[in-house]
Amino acid sequence: MRIFVTTAKGEEIAVQAVPGYSLAQAVYLSGFFDVPPLCSGHGAGISRCGRCRMRFEGLLAAFPASPRDMAVLGGQAVREGWRLACRIDCRELARHLEQADDPSGRDEKRAGVTLPNAVRIVDRNFEPAPLRGGGSGAELPEVLRVSKDADAGERTRKTTLAVDFGTTSICWKFSADREDSADARMVNPQMGAGSDIMSRLALAHPARELFGSGRERLRVLSAGALSRILDTVKAGARTDEIVVAGNPAMMYLLLGKDVSGLCAAPYKLDYRGGTREILPACPNLPPCWICPLISPFVGGDISAGYASLVFGGRAVARSRAQYPFLLADLGTNGEFILALDERRALAASLPLGPALEGMGLCCGSEAREGVITGFQLAPEGLRAKFFKNKPVEQAQGLSATAYLELLMHLLKLGLVDQDGHFKKPEAAGLPAETPLPLPLIRKLAGRLGGAPASSEAAWHIADNFYISSGDIEEILKIKAAFSLAVKTLVKEAGLTCGSLRAFYLAGALGSFVTPQALAVLGFVPEELLSRLVPAGNTALDGAALLAGKPELREKLIQWAALAHTLSLAGQEDFHNRFTEEMRFRF
Ligand code: FES
Repeated sequence: MRIFVTTAKGEEIAVQAVPGYSLAQAVYLSGFFDVPPLCSGHGAGISRCGRCRMRFEGLLAAFPASPRDMAVLGGQAVREGWRLACRIDCRELARHLEQADDPSGRDEKRAGVTLPNAVRIVDRNFEPAPLRGGGSGAELPEVLRVSKDADAGERTRKTTLAVDFGTTSICWKFSADREDSADARMVNPQMGAGSDIMSRLALAHPARELFGSGRERLRVLSAGALSRILDTVKAGARTDEIVVAGNPAMMYLLLGKDVSGLCAAPYKLDYRGGTREILPACPNLPPCWICPLISPFVGGDISAGYASLVFGGRAVARSRAQYPFLLADLGTNGEFILALDERRALAASLPLGPALEGMGLCCGSEAREGVITGFQLAPEGLRAKFFKNKPVEQAQGLSATAYLELLMHLLKLGLVDQDGHFKKPEAAGLPAETPLPLPLIRKLAGRLGGAPASSEAAWHIADNFYISSGDIEEILKIKAAFSLAVKTLVKEAGLTCGSLRAFYLAGALGSFVTPQALAVLGFVPEELLSRLVPAGNTALDGAALLAGKPELREKLIQWAALAHTLSLAGQEDFHNRFTEEMRFRF
C-alpha cells in the first residue's frame, strides 16, 4: 500500500506503508525527509511531543482520532485532520482503506498525508532498502549516493572526519576545519524508527525481517548520513578516513551487524570496535575507524570521551583529568565511567529516555537558536536565558537544561517539593529565607493551573510555555537513574563522592547545564558542586583527537578491554533503590 506524502511546500513523494511499522516510521524511514526529533519509542516519554503529526487527506480524511491525538494536538488540530503518526500502525490504515467508501476509485481519491511546515525533503533520489513486507524485491542497494569526495581528482589536501554518531544527533568535524569552528550537527535519520536505542534495535532485530528489512533500512540511512556529511567537505580537501564514536547499537546498525545480542538478556557484545571498517555496500565511503566499545550499552562515545579527557582533547586543553574522576555522557542513554587510574575503570549505563534531548517534555526542544536554555531569578521573577544569549521575541521551546533550572528555582521557592509535586498556592509553605519577596512568590504560585488539552497540573511560565506534572516525573526518572549510577559506582570502587577529583558532564547536558541545578535537584551531592565540569561534546573531541593522532588508538583499545562494567539493573534491590532515588535529593 502506498501513501502519498506532501510537504508544506507542496512537493509529493509516495512511500510504502509497511505493515508492522507506524505511519511515522514508514514515512521517516523512507529516507526522503528530514526527520524531526521525535519522542516516540520504547519506554518513557512516549507520544507527548506532537512532532510526528500529519494531516490526513483523501481516503484517510475520515480516519478516527484517538484520545491521545486530542490530548497532544488539541480539538482544533484534530478537526483539521491532524493525527499523531507515531501512534498509528500501517495495518490500521490498510483496514481503514479497505472499508473506505470509494465509489470513484482509489487512484483518484488517494490516501494522503501532509507533513508539518518544518519537514523538508532531504533527498528526493534516496534509494531506501527494499521492503519485503512492502511488496518489492529483497535485493539490497549496492551503492549509496556517491560522495563528492570520491571523484575529487584534483583535491590534494587530506582531511579526516570525526563523527559523534549519537542516538539523537550526529555531530561532526573535519580536521581541516579551524580548531574553534562550531561543530556541525544533524538529526540522526534513524530517528524515524523511534527516539531511543531499544526502538532502533527492535526494528533491526532479525524477527522483524518478516515485516521489512529494518536492519537494512537503518544501515542505509546511517551510511547515507555519513555520505551527506562528506558532501560538506571544504573545496580542495579529500577525506581519507572517518573516526566514528557511538554507542554499540549505533555502531552495529552502521556496520549492518546482527543486533540480536543487544536486544535481550543476557546481553552480549560480539564486536568490540577499535577496528578500521569498510562499510558494507558502500565502496565510495572512506574507511571508518570505530572507537572501542566497552560493553553492550557502554560504547565508543564514552571511550572517545575518556581519550579526550586523559590524552588531551579540546575539552580539557588547559588541564588534563586527574584520577579518580567520573565521566557521564548523557543522552537517551546515560553512560558512566569511573576512572580509577590509567588501567582501572568501572563503567555503567542506564536508559534515560529522550527528555534530556528535549523530546517528550510538553514544551521541550533541543538546544538551538530561539530556544530557552535556562532561567535566572530577577526582580520581576524568573527571567529566561536564551541559546547563546540571543533572545528572540517568540521562544521556540525549552531545552532540558531550561527545565532543570526552572525546577531548581521552583524547588527553592517552595513551589515544588522534593517528591516533585506542585504545591498549591494556598498551601505553598514558603521557605524561611526566600530568594524573592513574599508577594512575588505568591504571585508566582498563582501560575499553577492545568496543562492545555490534558488533565495534568502545570505551572505556567508564559502564555505558551509550562512545565507539567508529567514533565517533572520524566525528569525525576532521569535524576533517579543518574544518582543511582553515581552512588553505585562510587560505592563499588570503595570511594566516596568527596574523594573524586572531578566529575565531567558530557552529552546533552555537557554544554549548557548549570552545575548548581544538578546539586539542588540531587543529581549529585553538594560537596561535588565545585568539581562538576560541563565538558561539552567529549565524544566528538575524542574522535577528532584519535583521527589526528592514530598512535593513541592502541592505548585506548587496551584501556577499554580492561574496563569493568557493572550491571545496575541486574543488581539486587534495583527497583526499590530506583524508587528511593525518585526524589530531588541526593
Ligand atoms: S507524539 Fe508522536 S513522536 Fe512525539
